[in-house]
Parts: sequence; C-alpha cells; structure tokens
Amino acid sequence: MTKGNFPVDKLKGIETPFYYYDMDLLKKTLKIVKEETKKYGFIQHYAVKANANRRILELIASEGFGADCVSGNEVKAAVNAGFPASKIVFAGVGKTDKEINLALDLNIFSFNVESLPELEVINELANKKGKLAQVALRINPNVDAHTHEYITTGLNENKFGFSLAHLDAVIETLQTLKSIKLIGIHFHIGSQIEEIKTFEPLCEKVNELQIYFEEKGIKLEHINLGGGLGIDYENPDAHLIPDFASYFEMFHKYLKLRDGQMAHFELGRSIVAQCGALVTRVVYVKQGEQKAFAIVDAGMTDLIRPALYQAYHKIENISSDLPVKKYDVVGPICESSDVFVKSYDLNETSRGDMLVLRSAGAYGEIMASQYNCRELPKPYYSDKI
Ligand code: LLP
Repeated sequence: MTKGNFPVDKLKGIETPFYYYDMDLLKKTLKIVKEETKKYGFIQHYAVKANANRRILELIASEGFGADCVSGNEVKAAVNAGFPASKIVFAGVGKTDKEINLALDLNIFSFNVESLPELEVINELANKKGKLAQVALRINPNVDAHTHEYITTGLNENKFGFSLAHLDAVIETLQTLKSIKLIGIHFHIGSQIEEIKTFEPLCEKVNELQIYFEEKGIKLEHINLGGGLGIDYENPDAHLIPDFASYFEMFHKYLKLRDGQMAHFELGRSIVAQCGALVTRVVYVKQGEQKAFAIVDAGMTDLIRPALYQAYHKIENISSDLPVKKYDVVGPICESSDVFVKSYDLNETSRGDMLVLRSAGAYGEIMASQYNCRELPKPYYSDKI
C-alpha cells in the first residue's frame, strides 16, 4: 500500500521515529534548479546547513552544485561528499582560526567575510601560509525579509555582515591587507521568504552598491545573493517543487550585472525541504478534559522547528482513512513546547498508527538533538528501502 508518496508497507517495518527522503523528488528538484540557473548563467551553492545528510550531499554534489558552508565541519562534509573545494563558499560571523586554516588549506572558492576583525585574521593566517585568500564581503543591506524574526538576517539589528555605514572604512583597510583578494559581495536577507517580490529591494540595494564600488575603482567579479526562497508548508503536494523559474527570473530582471560578472545563490530549504518527512508512530491517544492528545514517539529533539519558530508542518496519518477528529499532536519530551500542532484534523488515530510530518527535509534531521538522552533519528531513502 502507498499513501501519497509514502510506501506504507515498506515503512511499517522500520523503527520510528525516522526521516524518509524521496530521492526522486530531490532529483527532479535539482534538475529544475539546474535548468533555471543555466538560463541566466547563475551559479548555485547548496546551503549545507539545511541538510548535511551524506547521501543528499553526494547527490547534490554529483549534479554539479557548489556548497555554502558555515562551519569547518560543514566544509569537511561538503568535500567528503564530493563538492570541489573550488565551489565552496564559507560564511559565518564566528569563524575560528582552526576553521579558517582548514578552508585555506583546502583552497576554497571564497570566504564570505562578516567583520573587520575577521578580515584581519584571515589576512594574517593566509599570509603565514603564503596564500592569497579570496573573500566576498557580506553586506547587511538593511532589507526586511518579512519572515519570522529568528530567520531574518538582513536588518541593521541583526548580527550578520558589514553595515552599510562601515563600508568606507572596510575598503580602506582592505587596501592594506596583502593576503586578501576581494572578489565580490555577498548578501542573505533571511529564510522562508514566500513572496518573490521581497527580493526586489535586495536587487535595488545591490545595484546601488555596484555603483558605489565602481566609484571606488573596485571591480567585483562575483555577486552572491544568498538563499531564502520559501516553500509551501501548508499544502506541500500543491508545490512539491518551489517556483524556481519566477525566483531566478526576478533576479535576472532586476539585477544589473556587469559584463562577465557572475551571480551566485545559496539556496537550502527550497532544494531539500519537500523531499523529506519525519515518520513517527502514535504511542498513546490520551483523552484530556477538552481535547484529545495524539502522543507520538517523535519529539522536538527530532524536529525542533515547531517548538523553536512556531513553524507548521503538515501531518498525515498514513495508517488510517477513518473520518477526521481533532488532536493536539505532541511529543514525549519533558518540555511544554514539545507540541507539533494543536487542535488538528487527523484521520482518527489509535496506538501504533504511523504519522508523517511533511516538508521536513530542511532544518529537520540536521537540527536534531539528543536531549533526554534520545537517539538521533535515522535517515531512510526511497531508493534504498
Ligand atoms: N546563506 C546564508 C548565509 C544563510 O544564513 C542561509 C540560511 C542560507 C544561505 C540558506 O537559506 P535558505 O535557502 O535555506 O532559506 N533553521 C531555520 C532556518 C535558518 C536559516 C539560516 N540561514 C528554519 O528551520 O527555518
């Protein structure tokens, strides 16, 4: 039996909770991203933070994508999965000396640098190795991403990037740093951005900054626009593959790229979210005073997004076709925030039913923890079960 895209009979034998990845969907998604970027000659670096699962990284690397990393271990994971170092960009406000040295030794494509002290440290460490480090300045464009405050990154109040007001001083310092080569500028305004037009002010800001750099006599070879394209959590089946065509077309239309200049992107969520689901079993159905609780064996340790960002993941009961009833679907963790959803319509459920939490391929497995001494959820793949 299959329900939706879920091979229920095959999944039944697996100990829950676990992540299930639809590798066909991932392949189809990658194909479309490639087609849409190719139209304009855009370059894609998959944001490893969304899902660093080895098989997923290997597949994405084999399709020719680059990688966007935010820690030394992400850089290592990317290289081990087959991403060439020459396609790796490395962002993050707190890169340590160890991480910088690793990236220098590997000759990654670019450091997306977020502060003056970081720039100075990269210069010093590159100098010691007799290397020239390629860097892009991450600029905080003060553009509102209109998304959850925890995943907004491009406002002045956020910790990320250089503020516009400090650019003059940064450029002056850069001229004294002999082991640094400035290759471009980098932006990332936030994540789960649902309205494509939200990116238009970013393009305008980039266009203004291009003029600013030109006036300083600086030629930028690379413009990195970050990631952030949102997905449909409410109704995943209606949009299993996000609207990459409109997204890239918008940048093509609004960005004024100079001759030979390359635009780079760092999409994470929109590439992997819909291909993953968290599969869990109902342990108990408990009748409360006013409501029924479906207590499941997955918790906030397996998928923290609902507890951390009040995020919604669609839940389906793949074991039941009974009429729907209302449940609070909750996990077993000793925290009141360990609730996936409240007062939710689910096909009537009983102990042992399998539920799937949809759209969990991004920021799901990778954010799992072992709080309460729990085991980490294991991944399973549609082409290997
Ligand atoms: N580039 C940079 C510099 C980033 O900080 C991020 C995400 C991305 C690219 C990828 O963004 P995406 O295309 O995935 O939106 N844990 C949160 C999301 C945090 C995003 C952090 N930065 C969540 O579960 O919603």
